[in-house]
Amino acid sequence: MKIRRIKLTKLSWKLAFLYAAVFAAVLLVLNASVLYGVKFFLIDQAKQKVESVSSTVEKRIIGSNSEQMTFDDPEIIYEARSDNTLNIKVAEPSGRIVNATDNFNMLGVPVMDHLNVVRKLEGGALNLVVKNTAVIDGGKVKAYIQVSQNMEKEYNFLWILFILLAIADIIGILFSLFAGYILSKSMLKPIDKMTKAANEIGLSGLSARIEVPPADDELSRLAITFNEMLDRINATFEKQGRFVADASHELRTPVSIIQGYIGMMDRWGKQDEKVLQESINAIKKETLSMTVMIERLLFLARGDNGRQLLKKAMFSIDNLMEEVSLESSMLASDHNFSFQGSQGLELFADRRMIKQMLRALLDNSIKFTPTGGKIDLLYVGDDKEIVFTVIDTGIGIPMEEKEQIFERFYRVDKARARETGGSGLGLSIVKRIVEVHEGKIKIESTVGTGTSVTVTLPRL
Ligand SMILES: Nc1ncnc2c1ncn2[C@@H]1O[C@H](COP(=O)(O)OP(=O)(O)O)[C@@H](O)[C@H]1O
Ligand SMILES: [Mg+2]
Repeated sequence: MKIRRIKLTKLSWKLAFLYAAVFAAVLLVLNASVLYGVKFFLIDQAKQKVESVSSTVEKRIIGSNSEQMTFDDPEIIYEARSDNTLNIKVAEPSGRIVNATDNFNMLGVPVMDHLNVVRKLEGGALNLVVKNTAVIDGGKVKAYIQVSQNMEKEYNFLWILFILLAIADIIGILFSLFAGYILSKSMLKPIDKMTKAANEIGLSGLSARIEVPPADDELSRLAITFNEMLDRINATFEKQGRFVADASHELRTPVSIIQGYIGMMDRWGKQDEKVLQESINAIKKETLSMTVMIERLLFLARGDNGRQLLKKAMFSIDNLMEEVSLESSMLASDHNFSFQGSQGLELFADRRMIKQMLRALLDNSIKFTPTGGKIDLLYVGDDKEIVFTVIDTGIGIPMEEKEQIFERFYRVDKARARETGGSGLGLSIVKRIVEVHEGKIKIESTVGTGTSVTVTLPRL
């Protein structure tokens, strides 16, 4: 058998990519909110600054009288002169600009519209927070002021932050990919081990077992389940092997007997009529018992493969009992039989099998009950089930062997086996027949007193 190594790389990569994707999504959301938050904070700060500068300048203009300070006095726009991120423009009510700084290009943002609101102007070369104010004094417009804050520095900062975060993200994602790969690979390692172990099990027989990982997790449970399955397979395997060995062993005896008689016939049979007849009789007997055994083996083997064919039909128990009782008394006239039961019972089952079962039970009672002993067959039934009981006054079965006698080829007294002519398959077949009819079987026995076998079969 060729050992096929199953590559786990694929699964670990899949998991790693999954980790990385989830991680990337989390990073993305996180960084987007950081960027957005910082941007919001910076704009808010700029707006506050614009508001406060506007109101300072406004107060200055309202408070001024022409003697001290004119609109074009550089002191009025003092803040913008010391801060080159700020532009202040002052216009006369006519709209003519009379005082202004030119710290950065305003691209002609008008002075007299959108009054008294702080606006954010974005796009193109413009990144400004602007407020236009109409300075009202004594119910009349005295002047217009425009205060604007250049956001270029802040935007540059945001841009750098964005790049840094992106780099960190890429590094993080690559790292998570790598870590995810290493992690999933190490987590899947036991599976790799199991695969190898499973491969070796086929090669080195069924005795090898998979090493169970120490942690109590899915993988260790998988290993345990796998090992249990191997135990079961091994048990079945051994049972099959034993069955085949036992079967060959059992068949070897009649074959060697037949060979012995053939040798005898060859040497003396041609002259001696008596030897010839004796040999023929013996060979007949042995081939017959071989045929019976082979048939039984086939019956059991069919069941092992789950191919037992059940031919169920409704039949009369009275009729069946008549047949069985006649055959039994003919086969064993030296035992006292008594067949008793309810009249008119009917059963839906495979008649041939039920008969085979009763005959096997009676056959045992006959074999293991001394001449003159009593053998009873009772049958009673209600609308649910029918109970057959075979009672004998035979040698009985030792307590500790009550389970084993159902095993194939098992006989309590092996020495007597050839004498009684059994193969040890009778009760295996009985058990099988009861099982396929979904019934129950019970044996009660006292050594030296007798045995009673009870079979309960459902009516339908
Ligand atoms: N009625 C019985 N009384 C005593 N022993 C029994 C009886 N039925 C079965 N046994 C024991 O169970 C063993 C298995 O029975 P069975 O499977 O029918 O095989 P076989 O009849 O070919 O020996 C028998 O060999 C015998 O030792
Ligand atoms: Mg038997």
